[in-house]
Amino acid sequence: MSMNDLLKNPPRLPLIAPSILSADFAAMGAECRAALDAGADLLHLDVMDGHFVPNLTMGPALCRSLREALPEVFLDVHLMVTDPAGFVGPFAEAGADLFVFHIEVESEPEGLAEKIHSAGMAAGLAINPPTDVEAILPHLDPFDLILLMSVNPGFSGQQFIGEVLDKARRVKPLLRADQRLQIDGGVNGRTAQGCRDAGCDVLVAASAVFKSPDYAAAIAELRGAAAGVASAREPGPSRGGRSG
Ligand code: DX5
Ligand code: ZN
Repeated sequence: MSMNDLLKNPPRLPLIAPSILSADFAAMGAECRAALDAGADLLHLDVMDGHFVPNLTMGPALCRSLREALPEVFLDVHLMVTDPAGFVGPFAEAGADLFVFHIEVESEPEGLAEKIHSAGMAAGLAINPPTDVEAILPHLDPFDLILLMSVNPGFSGQQFIGEVLDKARRVKPLLRADQRLQIDGGVNGRTAQGCRDAGCDVLVAASAVFKSPDYAAAIAELRGAAAGVASAREPGPSRGGRSG
């Protein structure tokens, strides 16, 4: 399956996208492998610039290292930066599959979507909780994925903002079958069902996966599957006992 097919023609839904923001940064390769072995469909990289959000995280160098270590993985890069356009080239060269930027910094996002596609990546448009959903409705067409933030971006481990599901119910019927609706922030075993019911089909979770003692159980719970999905796989080394 080519990488772009994961979004356009997913083998199963919802797709589960662990955000590596809550992984142990000193063991990143092993953490990512453990999440994938535990049933993750892709990896979500949260890029922050200290301006759009009050935090600094990771950049193209980490993306490149993950691409080299995990040649088959789908890398979803979420840019929480004030100037995403300047990073299209660097992330394309670093092996990103999906480049997501915010409507709050590009009110006419079509041009940037085209630039992202020309660089060989899928394009995503994100919206923060306080921003009116009307801001994105005229711009859905060129995007492969719409990202609804369900926390104010900047940090993992925050509480889910339930009102965001109204946006999901509004946007979902407007999307084509080949467009995905992603939700990010505070998604865990308690909130995932509501996200799925509202039409979200790509669930991002940082703390719910990487702070869990059992990554496979956490991912199965997000997916809405009976616990023990990972037992379909060969038993391997203990998955994800880290607390970092
Ligand atoms: C928030 C990031 C999220 C974050 C989610 O700024 O965009 O991807 O890592 O963390 P949890 O799942 O812990 O809310
Ligand atoms: Zn994110």
